[in-house]
Amino acid sequence: MPSAEPKLKVAVIGAGLMGHGIAQVFAAAGHETTLTDPDAGVLQAAPAHVARNLEQMRVPADAVLQRLRLSKSLPAAVAEAGIVIEAAPERLALKQRIFADAADAAPRTAILASNTSVIPITRIGERLDPQARSRLVGTHWWNPPHLVPLVEVVRTPMTDDVIFERTVGLLRAAGKHPVRVRKDVPGFIGNRLQHALWREAISLVQAGVCDAETIDQVVKQSFGMRLPVLGPMENADLVGLELTRNVHEILFPDLDASPEPSALLTRLLEQGHLGMRSGKGLRDWTPEAADAVRARLARHLIAASAPGRPTDDSGTAHG
Ligand SMILES: NC(=O)c1ccc[n+]([C@@H]2O[C@H](COP(=O)([O-])OP(=O)(O)OC[C@H]3O[C@@H](n4cnc5c(N)ncnc54)[C@H](O)[C@@H]3O)[C@@H](O)[C@H]2O)c1
Repeated sequence: MPSAEPKLKVAVIGAGLMGHGIAQVFAAAGHETTLTDPDAGVLQAAPAHVARNLEQMRVPADAVLQRLRLSKSLPAAVAEAGIVIEAAPERLALKQRIFADAADAAPRTAILASNTSVIPITRIGERLDPQARSRLVGTHWWNPPHLVPLVEVVRTPMTDDVIFERTVGLLRAAGKHPVRVRKDVPGFIGNRLQHALWREAISLVQAGVCDAETIDQVVKQSFGMRLPVLGPMENADLVGLELTRNVHEILFPDLDASPEPSALLTRLLEQGHLGMRSGKGLRDWTPEAADAVRARLARHLIAASAPGRPTDDSGTAHG
């Protein structure tokens, strides 16, 4: 794992699904890392989750856990941090308050980073003074953060160039694959692409073209097989731009362009169907079937991020 960057103290705000994995990545890269969360149960459980992740990856846990500290107090957690990463619930007002508190308590040189999935970073920084705003970036990680290599680093019009590049360098040195997002658009890059696909998928089911299971089969048994080695831009160039344009001429007028969540999604939610956790969402789930999906995903991601795996064409190993 490359490690030319100096070791900073890292504070991670929110020790839930994303926060404990993000803390694990920095602690594994040699940074003293402090996790904070108002939910004492979540906070106390975090080291055990990290230990289990490392065991699954066959990485010795002791040294990593020694660099991982827990704090009940946000100001104490960020007091000496070189970078603060927020992974609290996806609510704008909460994130605005957290960053106001973090900017007050952290050093005036600290990078301030949000792991929001879709909220524009500019909005999260609305309550900060200009100096703190110049240190605010998005770092959008993917679940599970210790296994999925990509992190989208998002700048706002106020973000200082040096802060932006330091964030990219720090993530790269921690073994991640950072990419630069130069405009602060909702959903950044990955979630815009992902949810464009989900909108069309749900729309096809709603229109009766096929059932939800068929959607998953079509994706997994066709273009999904190519995606790990062939991005959409490569694919368009591979088939040629003439064919791409001809397809778009026929297809685009017919694709779902609705600006609202689908009526099918709303109806399912009104009926109490939340997805795997309630036994039914777009598809039906027994607890065993849901566990099997989670286990299959973890096995796949661990294998895909294992040492010795192929590198992409930028020469950067994933992981
Ligand atoms: N789950 C994903 O797949 C995913 C992927 C990328 C980004 N994100 C984003 O990461 C963020 C966290 O998501 P998650 O899935 O880890 O949620 P989560 O609910 O698992 O964890 C959030 C944690 O934040 C804590 N919290 C609540 N108020 C807090 C406060 N004032 N200060 C500090 N911590 C507080 C909660 O107790 C909880 O433990 C969200 O913005 C989410 O959109 C999630």
